Amino acid sequence: MTKITTSTFLNHKMNHEKITVLTAYDYSMASLLDEAGIECLLVGDSLGMTMLGYEDTLAVTMEDMIHHTKAVKRGAKFAMVVADMPFMSYHVSDEEAVRNAARFIKEAGAHAIKLEGGFNVKTRIEAIIAAQIPVMGHLGLTPQSVNAFGGFKVQGKSKVQAKKLIEEAKLLESLGCFAIVLECIPAKLAQLISSQLSIPTIGIGAGSGCDGQVLVIQDLLGMYSDLSPKFVKPYANLKPIIIDAAKAYASEVKSGDFPEEKHTFKIDESVLDKLY
Ligand code: KIV
Repeated sequence: MTKITTSTFLNHKMNHEKITVLTAYDYSMASLLDEAGIECLLVGDSLGMTMLGYEDTLAVTMEDMIHHTKAVKRGAKFAMVVADMPFMSYHVSDEEAVRNAARFIKEAGAHAIKLEGGFNVKTRIEAIIAAQIPVMGHLGLTPQSVNAFGGFKVQGKSKVQAKKLIEEAKLLESLGCFAIVLECIPAKLAQLISSQLSIPTIGIGAGSGCDGQVLVIQDLLGMYSDLSPKFVKPYANLKPIIIDAAKAYASEVKSGDFPEEKHTFKIDESVLDKLY
């Protein structure tokens, strides 16, 4: 398999080949998803919820993101690694945004960054792209705006909201973003936006008209049940499997059935004798 780059994204769009993206937050999962041929691993700030147990993504720090991005990068041989810029890492100034974006490339080995927003982040995106760092945009239900939106709600349902989303998608394309995540917007609007852009859209809760799809890996594997949005399709149900395995382990530890002799190391009897 060849390494996936931003050019692969654009070629897939031209060739009408759908792009596969999943979130990953650690080495072992990244290795498995890479082996499965997933083209892009997004180190989403959703790790605040799935990995760190927060209610939303707002408390996630740059250090959290760098730590997890490094781990994912070690597991990704072919997949492109995109790191999510956390809340307040790009909100204060263009300079701070570039400095933080650069940390993902220099310290963590990411290939690109993702940030949320449209008109409000125009100069941030310009500055990051001017520093030669590829940017994936993110429009619609941008979770870092959860308080401004008044909750996790579908976006773009009114004419005003829908027109703004179309304009923002075109703006992100004109600024040089290589792809745009469209989250939780009506399927027909996502299809319209996708048809008007030459860069790919990656949908989550935005229907099949997008050029690719992304899901949170814990949702796909049926491991995270704090939230269960309508757009999630679990492809496995690991929660009961993990709980049953942990229960079986606990019961064998209690009974003394684990570890068995095959799980233990030997010592020469003559050495042992000298210890008494
Ligand atoms: O943080 C995240 O995982 C994301 C995806 C859901 C798009 O932004």
